Formats: sequence, structure tokens, C-alpha cells
Amino acid sequence: MSNSNMERGAFVASSKIVDTIAVIGLGLIGGSFAKALKEAGAARRVIGFDRRPEELSVGLSIGVIDEAAQTLKQAVLDADVVVLAVPVRAVEDVLGQIKYDFKPGAILTDVGSVKGCFVGAVERIFQGVDEANRPVVVPGHPIAGSEKSGVAAADATLFANHKVILTPLSEQNPEAVEVIRSLWSCCGSTVLEMGVDHHDDVLAATSHLPHLIAFSLVDTLAGEGDSKEIFKYAAGGFRDFTRIAASDPVMWSDIFLSNSDSTLKVLDHFADDLATLREAIANQDSKTLLGVFTRAKAARDHFSKILSGQAYTTIMNTKNVVFKMKSGGEVQGVIRVAGDKSMSHRSIMLGSLADGVTEVEGFLEGEDSLATLQAFRDMGVVIEGPDEGRVKIYGVGVNGLKKPPGPIYLGNSGTGMRLFAGLLSGQSFDTELTGDESLSKRPMERVAAPLRLMGAVIETGDQGRPPMKIKGNSQLKGTHYDMPMASAQVKSCLLLAGLYADGETSVTEPAPTRDHTERMLNGFGYSVKREGATASLVGGGSLTATKIDVPADISSAAFFLVAASITPGAHLTLKHVGMNPTRVGVINILRAMGGHIEISNESEVGGEPVADLTVSYRPLKGINIPEDQVPLAIDEFPVLFIAAVCAEGKTVLTGAEELRVKESDRIQVMADGLKAVGVDTLVTADGIEIVGSEIAGGVVDSHGDHRIAMAFAVASLRAKGEIVINDCANVATSFPNFEALAKQVGMQISVEHE
Ligand code: S3P
Repeated sequence: MSNSNMERGAFVASSKIVDTIAVIGLGLIGGSFAKALKEAGAARRVIGFDRRPEELSVGLSIGVIDEAAQTLKQAVLDADVVVLAVPVRAVEDVLGQIKYDFKPGAILTDVGSVKGCFVGAVERIFQGVDEANRPVVVPGHPIAGSEKSGVAAADATLFANHKVILTPLSEQNPEAVEVIRSLWSCCGSTVLEMGVDHHDDVLAATSHLPHLIAFSLVDTLAGEGDSKEIFKYAAGGFRDFTRIAASDPVMWSDIFLSNSDSTLKVLDHFADDLATLREAIANQDSKTLLGVFTRAKAARDHFSKILSGQAYTTIMNTKNVVFKMKSGGEVQGVIRVAGDKSMSHRSIMLGSLADGVTEVEGFLEGEDSLATLQAFRDMGVVIEGPDEGRVKIYGVGVNGLKKPPGPIYLGNSGTGMRLFAGLLSGQSFDTELTGDESLSKRPMERVAAPLRLMGAVIETGDQGRPPMKIKGNSQLKGTHYDMPMASAQVKSCLLLAGLYADGETSVTEPAPTRDHTERMLNGFGYSVKREGATASLVGGGSLTATKIDVPADISSAAFFLVAASITPGAHLTLKHVGMNPTRVGVINILRAMGGHIEISNESEVGGEPVADLTVSYRPLKGINIPEDQVPLAIDEFPVLFIAAVCAEGKTVLTGAEELRVKESDRIQVMADGLKAVGVDTLVTADGIEIVGSEIAGGVVDSHGDHRIAMAFAVASLRAKGEIVINDCANVATSFPNFEALAKQVGMQISVEHE
């Protein structure tokens, strides 16, 4: 490879892929492909043909091709691969002229933006030709281009880091597909395959429609009274938006005529949406405008994630995020951790179902609660923000949700999926709930079964796991349910379904679980009664918008409570932490172990108690964790296990089998991780026994579980050596600024994205 090639990022084929390639049509695309193939050394010779002799001689003189063929036939006769790079509507005519001239075994490919018409032309042309003399056809389409045209603009790097779609035909010879794939790969492209019709629909939406709109807008403005004046003031936005209106008019008119069905479908949809915007402007309807713009902004901001089909997974999720924790460090200062995840989910849900505008502060901008927010946008709710924890929700009322355009993707969030299952059981439309790899393994029958008792029609996937398919228009009836497990998610799911049920829905819990749903419903003016272990409500009411102040999440604070408790000399204050009595197990357990936590500035915001917590180092001792504390500290056990390792004596946990069905099997995954850092434990069916011991250090796999990752980060404060924690991307689901706060207090964390 020459130096200049390396600098430009051109690629090299390890050996010649074929002997002779003919490129018919030396426009920008054909010329660039020929040049890239030549520079990569993919063939012994690249022959070019163009019906415009001047283009052909320019191509030859600037080294785009090795040889210029004088006729179409001459170009094709010896070619192993023939690349048709002519306007899509010229394909049939060109093929007609060379249909008997292909060398036996030759491969015919193209670069057109529409695949249906290419495949149709090929079928018609080669119908009468003897099978043995027909080329093997591999339709192709590079998703790259430029508003420039002509061979002089040929650029060997045009396709580098761009996608190329091949739409092989069912009877295709796989070796031929491989050859074309290799040719594109050595131009630096990523090669994908899809069906012909699917390709044409996708391209109509993502490429053809935007070109049509750009052409049309420039033409409209050029035709306005004083167009010169208008263009004079048309600045960045206009230029960005209309760059593609300078593309080749002949090529584009061909594309629209060749892909008319798919283009018309998406054009009609766009025209309807444009009419809605027009009407909104005419009626001074800011809600509709905000709805469209906030949805569009969210989609554009998360473009790359949407492309992977998962709107709110982080880009990090495609990479292994590694926490590298140096041993030791300090825990000092005053911090406020991220907003409460449970309340953040519920604030969006209830705000969306309320009448009026709900304003939220302290919202957790983590992946889980953002997935919930996006789901409501997809169901037609206008939501402004989040902007530094502030969210404004224009509620649509209990019966105002609209059918979402596709399945609702809830990422890593069990709370999201289970609460949505209840809420969506009462809608008039069908929905499907999906999630990431971890969520797709979690049990959903625990909500589906009681919802069915209420009259819901729900299908779960294999072994009762996601996806969940929920039928609309099921008339729910209020039912009493005795929960077999202490789960706030199950309770909340049934209460949300109960909003849509006839009569009373009541749920009895075997032990107290977090009651944010009940408190927040009451805050929205919807009465939820509590008698002993039973929460109940009567369906058919309405919610009134309110203001919500989401306190800091005690489950996130827990990492720092333990960090300070185990680090000699530590002294840390955590501000404005949610102190709901159903959540304070971590404080009770740490105190029982000898931890020193002071509570100050106690107050109540929006029906939830909050306080500042100041924690200082104290030597801890092992305890038998009281079973009644388990549901009150259910998310905090990974980091409590670290406290147990740092305590003197034995800590025994029982009655915690629920930990096995969290984002990971938190008993086993913690035991494995502890073993990896030199700590032996005894795993039991419903808990674990941990004897205080030294932490050596080592490499831990978090299994994509955010709380496991953060727990081992805390362990490093007392480890003798470095702890490396793999698979930490999901920390962003609950605690996006964990790294920053850990550094701020003096922990020695560095984060690598591999
Ligand atoms: C949650 C309830 C708990 C908890 C989860 C959040 C909620 O799950 O583990 O992180 O917001 O209702 P279970 O109710 O299934 O125990």
C-alpha cells in the first residue's frame, strides 16, 4: 500500500479477487468503485465503458480505469465481474445490448438505488438466454454518494466506512455473493444483505423521500417572488437541509419513477403529517407542534441508537465498558446522587395518564427511565426534557394513549416491563413489550398470570419470559390477589391495571415492599387505600397533574454508604436522599453491622420523606440479616455483600431467593465475582454466607448488571490489588454519573470503552 493510500484510508485486497472487472457507466459511483478496486488491487485489470467518450478518456487519463473499451460488448467479453453503474432506467436497454456477450460464469452486479426494477429488468432480459450463458446476478447498492457527479469527481474512499446492501436472489450462487462482498469489503465498506422489497421500502424512506423534499423546497423557494433576496438570507439550516438538491436530476428522476410504489407510500404518510403541522400552526396549537418536535428531537439525538433498533441503549452497550479500580482511595465530601429510579418511572407513567401538565424535578436521566419516557412519547404523549432532571409532561388522561408505531423496547428495565404490562392491559390497542438480553431472561408470568385473572389477554415468550404481547380491548375486572412473592413491581402492575378495571382491585403482600405507586397515585388525587398488608383502588377514576420532586435514589446512595463505612478515615454526606420506610433496609442493616450513619434535615417532599445522610468509617461486624429487611434492601445486597466481606465475622443472608431473578442472579454472580478477587463464600438456595476476609483483587465479570459493577468498584477501596470489572455499560441504566461522583469522593476509578 502506498503511503498516500494509507493516509486516505484505502484498503487492499490480500490477493486479486478476480482477473478482470468491467465497470459500465463512469459516473461518480461507477468511477469511484473502479478507482477504489484498482487502488486496492482487487483485480488484474479494470476496464471501463461509458457512452460519453469524453468521460471515458477522462477516466483513463486520471487512472480510474486501466483500459477504456470502445464498445459495450468489448467491455463485457472477458470480464469476470460486470458492474452496471448506469442510471436505473437505462439498465434494461444496456443489458439488452450485451445479453449474449457474458463470459460463462461471469457475475453481474449493479450499484442502483432501487433493486426491484433492476431485478425485474434482469428477469425480462435473460428470459430467452440459455442458462449456461447467463451471468450470475448479485444486485448491490452502496449507501454512499455525493452531490457531485461525473468521473472527474471519482473518489476511491467514497465507500470506506459506508454500508453496501446486497439483495441476493433466492436461487443465488453463494460464491458469487462472496466475490461481490469481497470487492466491496476491500473498498472499506460494511456489507449487509436484505430482501429486494425491504430494501426499496427502506431506501424510499431514508434516501428517496429526503431527496424529493430537498429538490422540492429549493424549487419552491426559487419560485417565490424575490428568490434572489430569499437565497441571500438562507443560511446554515437551509444549506444543511438542501445540500442534496444539487444531486444529478436525471439519476434522481429515474429513481423516483423506478421506486414509485414505495416512495408514494412514505410520501403520503409525510404529506399527512405535514398537513397536521400546517393545521397546528394555523390553530396556534403549540401542544401538537411540541409533540412532533420533542419526538423528532429525541429521535435525532438518539439516531445512532435508533439505528441499532434500541432507542435508549447507550452506544456504550455495543462496547465492553471496563471499570479499572486501583486499590485504596478515599471517601470524603458532600454529594447528591442521581434521582430515584422507581419514582422516575412512575412520575412519567402517572404524569402521562393525568389530566393537565405535570412538572418533574430530579428525574433520573438513566437508560431505564428514559426508555419509559420514550415509550410514552411513542404513545402520543408530549414530554419536554429531560433537561437537568426537569421534565414537563402534557398528560393525555387515563384513556388518552395512542397505539405506538411498533413494539415498546424497555432496555434493561424489569420495572418498566412489569408496570407497563399492567397499564397496557387496560388500553384499546395491542402492544408488544421487548427488552435487552438481560431483561429477555427475566420472569414475566409473575405479572401475566394475575393480569389474566383480571381478564387481560397476554402472551409471554418461551418459559414465561419477554416478549410480552398484550391484547387491547379486554374489559378488566377488579380482583383480589395474594402475592406469592414480596414484589413492588407485581403490586404496582396490578394497581395500574386496576385503574382500568371495573370495581376494586386489591393486592396483599407477604412483606412490605416499596409503596411509591400508592403514594404517587394519591399525590395525583387518585385514592389508594391501605389496610394492613393490602393496597386497593377502584377503577374508572382520573388523575390530576401535579408537581413531583424526585429525591436522590437510596439504592444509588447505598454504594457510597458502604464505601464510607468500609474506608478508614471516610466521612461523607449524601444530600436529599429518599427515605421512604420501605426502602431504608440498607441503613438498618449497616447500622446493625456497626455502621455509623447520621440522619439530618429530614423533610417530606410530595408525599415522600427525604433526608441528608452523613456516614463515617466504623469497623463493621458480621450479622444474621433479619429476613424482614430483605424486601426493604432488595437492590442493595450486591454492595452489602462487600460490606460483609469487610466486616469481622460471619454475615448470613436468608430469604432472598428474589435476588436470583434480578438483572442477573445476584447471589451467584456476586459469589463468582468475590471468588475472582480472592474471597470464598457459601452460596445457599435463598442467600449466602460471607465470612469477613481480605480482598486480593482480580478480574470480575458483572454480567451486565449495573449494581454488581458498582459493588465491586466499592470493593476496591479495601482491596490489596487492582480490581478490573468487565461489562459495566449498564451502570448507565440507574447511575449515569457514577464514575464522576466516585472520582469526586476520592475513589480511584478509570473507565475504558473497549
Ligand atoms: C422496583 C421494585 C423492586 C426492585 C426494582 C425496582 C420498583 O423489584 O428490585 O429495582 O420500582 O417497583 P421487585 O418488586 O420485583 O422486587
